Amino acid sequence: MTAKHPHSGSTANDDSALITTPFGSHASAGEVIRGTDLTGRRAVVTGGASGIGAETVRALAAAGAEVTIATRRPEAAEPLVRELAALGGAGRVHTSALDLSEPASAAAFARSWRGTLDILVANAGVMALPTRTVTAGGWEAQLATNHLGHFALATGLYTAMRDAGSARIVVVSSGAHRDVPFDFQDPHFERRPYDPWEAYGQSKTAEVLFTVGAGRWAADGITANALNPGYILTRLQRHRYDDQPGGVGAHALAPEAANRLWEYSTEALRVT
Ligand SMILES: NC(=O)c1ccc[n+]([C@@H]2O[C@H](COP(=O)([O-])OP(=O)(O)OC[C@H]3O[C@@H](n4cnc5c(N)ncnc54)[C@H](OP(=O)(O)O)[C@@H]3O)[C@@H](O)[C@H]2O)c1
Repeated sequence: MTAKHPHSGSTANDDSALITTPFGSHASAGEVIRGTDLTGRRAVVTGGASGIGAETVRALAAAGAEVTIATRRPEAAEPLVRELAALGGAGRVHTSALDLSEPASAAAFARSWRGTLDILVANAGVMALPTRTVTAGGWEAQLATNHLGHFALATGLYTAMRDAGSARIVVVSSGAHRDVPFDFQDPHFERRPYDPWEAYGQSKTAEVLFTVGAGRWAADGITANALNPGYILTRLQRHRYDDQPGGVGAHALAPEAANRLWEYSTEALRVT
């Protein structure tokens, strides 16, 4: 899903905006980034202490970027920081505390950011929490972490990205959005029965809709893309059990829904 491809001039939901690539499903991050020099660029990777996030940090730092690992457990990122510090030529890597399920934490992270930001990788996530879990603010935990926290972070860092001149937001979504629309009537499963996969899928739909909505920042030089990383065995699957189907299907990811979600998310953050 592409909000705007920098070379195509196309807009959201326009098939001509799809990015084509010579890389297949087995290409590593290192192979993809080879030949790209990110010296002088500054990146934030949420959930960068483990799994896909850690590999993203490795690739960005190896290409010379200065990387901030945004993590709720900074101590867990220390081995990675040490590993990359020992790698000759890698960009500087450091950690900063961020709990995406707490809007105040995302706001504090954004407030403490100094200077410009070139790359925001919205990667952190939780999947299929077995029982309905709500955050201190009363939000369903997957929606809070996967979408609302990232929404708060991205909107809080908007000025830093705009000032970078050609910033990129990369949303690590999933295929799980495909059969679950965003339920504007009951996004936190207060009235309908809780389903772990519906809640995960809805949060991923929200992430993709956020990407579409972020097309409004294209004129500021900010490009937003969402991706499905495919299936990779990480800690994410710790709540997965065999009788939970991961569905397929399709529903509209229309710009109107993206605008509605943007309004919903802005309002949700305002009332916390
Ligand atoms: N692996 C797959 O097959 C797959 C498929 C489709 C999409 N994805 C997506 O890929 C992304 C990365 O997942 P992964 O597979 O690399 O799993 P992972 O290793 O579990 O990584 C998820 C990261 O998110 C962090 N996180 C969770 N809750 C957080 C919070 N409240 N605040 C800040 N950070 C938080 C985790 O930190 P802690 O260590 O502190 O929990 C962890 O570092 C997720 O968005 C996931 O939905 C993965």
